Amino acid sequence: MAEAGDGLDDALDTAASPEVRDAFRQSLPAWFDGARRPMPWREPGKDGRRDPYRVWVSEVMLQQTRVETATPYFRRFVERFPTVEALAAAPLDDVLKHWEGLGYYSRARNLHRAAGQVVAEHGGAVPSTEEAFRALPGVGPYTAAAVLSLAFDAPLAVLDGNVIRVLTRVFAVTADARAGRTRTALQTLADALLDRERPGRWNESVMELGATVCTPRSPACPRCPLRPVCQAAALGTPEAFPVVSKRAPTPHHTIAVGVVTDDDGRVLIQRRPEDAMLGGLWEFPGGKVEPGESLEDACAREVREELGVEVAVGAPIARVEHAYSHFRITMHAFRCRVVSGEPRTETGEPWAWVAIGDLDGYAFPRANGRVIEALREQVRAPRLL
Ligand code: ADE
Ligand code: SF4
Repeated sequence: MAEAGDGLDDALDTAASPEVRDAFRQSLPAWFDGARRPMPWREPGKDGRRDPYRVWVSEVMLQQTRVETATPYFRRFVERFPTVEALAAAPLDDVLKHWEGLGYYSRARNLHRAAGQVVAEHGGAVPSTEEAFRALPGVGPYTAAAVLSLAFDAPLAVLDGNVIRVLTRVFAVTADARAGRTRTALQTLADALLDRERPGRWNESVMELGATVCTPRSPACPRCPLRPVCQAAALGTPEAFPVVSKRAPTPHHTIAVGVVTDDDGRVLIQRRPEDAMLGGLWEFPGGKVEPGESLEDACAREVREELGVEVAVGAPIARVEHAYSHFRITMHAFRCRVVSGEPRTETGEPWAWVAIGDLDGYAFPRANGRVIEALREQVRAPRLL
């Protein structure tokens, strides 16, 4: 598994020493009890336990989203969908609308599908065993460990970015933290350190330490409960961990989209197929600009290909930069007017003419949302062209 000198070879032995074990099982949770930030999903219910459904929603949101960003989304989400049953019964459009702006929309689609399964197969009760919970759409090792430990005190250690940072620093792990074998070894290490009496509290205390003290830049080592056993702090180089292999640079695409208006000022939008990236969200028709093609030509071609209408491309409305997980885009939006044809989609996906004031009723990906903002600016302050 581990190679000599990469910090993983003797980490398990070190973890078994009384100093390290006590630091992780006593000093760290004791620190957490005093430093625990209030969060809406951390409140226990009337029975003194945390509601597994709320824990689940929060952990799904927190996987790619920071606590501060997720908090208002979480409140609105559980207000609108207070139970698994309520979520299962809601239309996907409504669920996506409550996720709008959070990104990684497959999280919302999976949660919605999983809620349906929990109602159909488990009578609406979130399954408390690893096997049954892992069988649900979107539930991977992280979500299972987090939800089952926090809601049911299952002895499963979480391994997220915060935990990886803390462990690689304390044990001065120089192995590539992105490599599968490193992840496996770190999971074994976390499982060995876990407080099996109170696994939920232990998991949250490591994540909290990573989020507030052992931060990526300028960690606050002097006030860290793990400081006495931390090898990176002793070396004086905490920021050198985790060691990660360089990623290939993310590709960039130039996108042209058309804001097609009719004589009543309504705009033409379409819904993306559910199985696609950003699936189930609404958008302006458009797509990648091909080599040698002008932005305007690409816009007209994409509108024709996607909705079967011939348009005249007019003034630019906005230029939006956006980064997704694996690529970046620059999106150019243009006003368009229909020259001929009636909208139709080859795939049978829905399309709609919508008044600008009614666009709020539809869930859009972030870049499209920025186009809508620009559109509204221009309606409020029309430029004389
Ligand atoms: N990040 C992911 N899950 C978390 C939790 N339960 N508390 C704090 N930060 C988190
Ligand atoms: Fe992180 Fe510093 Fe604490 Fe080590 S001592 S775990 S580097 S904050």
